[in-house]
Amino acid sequence: MSRGVVLITGASSGLGAEMARRFAARGYDLALTARRTARLEQLAGEIAAIHPGTRVEVRTLDVTDFDAVPVVFAEIAAAFGRLDRVIVNAGLGKGAPLGTGRADANRETALTNFVGALAQMEAALEIFRAAGGGHLVVISSISGLRGMRKTLTTYAATKAGLAHLAEGVRSERIPGVKVTTVYPGYIRSEMNEHVTQKTPFMVDTETGVRAIVAAVEKEKAQAYVPAWPWIPLGYALRGLPLSVVRRLT
Ligand SMILES: NC(=O)c1ccc[n+]([C@@H]2O[C@H](COP(=O)([O-])OP(=O)(O)OC[C@H]3O[C@@H](n4cnc5c(N)ncnc54)[C@H](OP(=O)(O)O)[C@@H]3O)[C@@H](O)[C@H]2O)c1
Repeated sequence: MSRGVVLITGASSGLGAEMARRFAARGYDLALTARRTARLEQLAGEIAAIHPGTRVEVRTLDVTDFDAVPVVFAEIAAAFGRLDRVIVNAGLGKGAPLGTGRADANRETALTNFVGALAQMEAALEIFRAAGGGHLVVISSISGLRGMRKTLTTYAATKAGLAHLAEGVRSERIPGVKVTTVYPGYIRSEMNEHVTQKTPFMVDTETGVRAIVAAVEKEKAQAYVPAWPWIPLGYALRGLPLSVVRRLT
């Protein structure tokens, strides 16, 4: 029997795709969304072959199509007759130092990671409020803990904004609604596959996502993942002077 329905946005690659595999293995049915539908269908086929009892629905969704987000989420909830967990995962890592002629890249990151996430949270919470509960999960980032330099400036700000949205909702204490903010460290995915030099503390996708899924299943309010080194580094980052933070990134 299904343990519930998990909707994952940005499920066509990286953390989203691996979360889909792991939640299927834990007995959940899945709704997978992204822009690259063929990738989602391939993943759904892969999951069906391993877990024939799992129901997987695939929907094309660009999270910057803000009006489409609630429509697709409502279609998914209606198709399954329930929606237990929404993972706001779709995200972009494009960016350039502000004022260097790449306003387009920074704007695209802001629209996807923050305004798109806001649309997903609105849509999820409309469903959860009506249903009397649900689990909202947002994928922020360790880099959202502080202001970051250059190519990371906009990205880090969007992830800080996302974490604050989640904390605000958590603080509202909506009956039956749990809110988890995940702060991943460095996890190998398409977002960082161009980074060829050895990044300290970078873990493979499976290791990173195993830690994310464990934290989500515990319905933690917030989780720095993987725990080592990101719990101590996360706490340190929050308090370090900017002159030190700027040397770490
Ligand atoms: N990997 C890390 O080290 C790390 C660390 C901290 C936080 N994160 C966060 O984890 C999340 C997943 O990233 P990832 O590392 O797995 O990177 P990834 O492999 O590049 O995956 C990003 C996913 O987001 C989707 N996406 C991007 N723009 C979208 C849009 N406009 N509409 C719908 N979907 C969109 C992509 O799907 P389509 O292109 O098919 O639409 C893809 O499935 C992101 O929010 C990222 O910021 C990652």
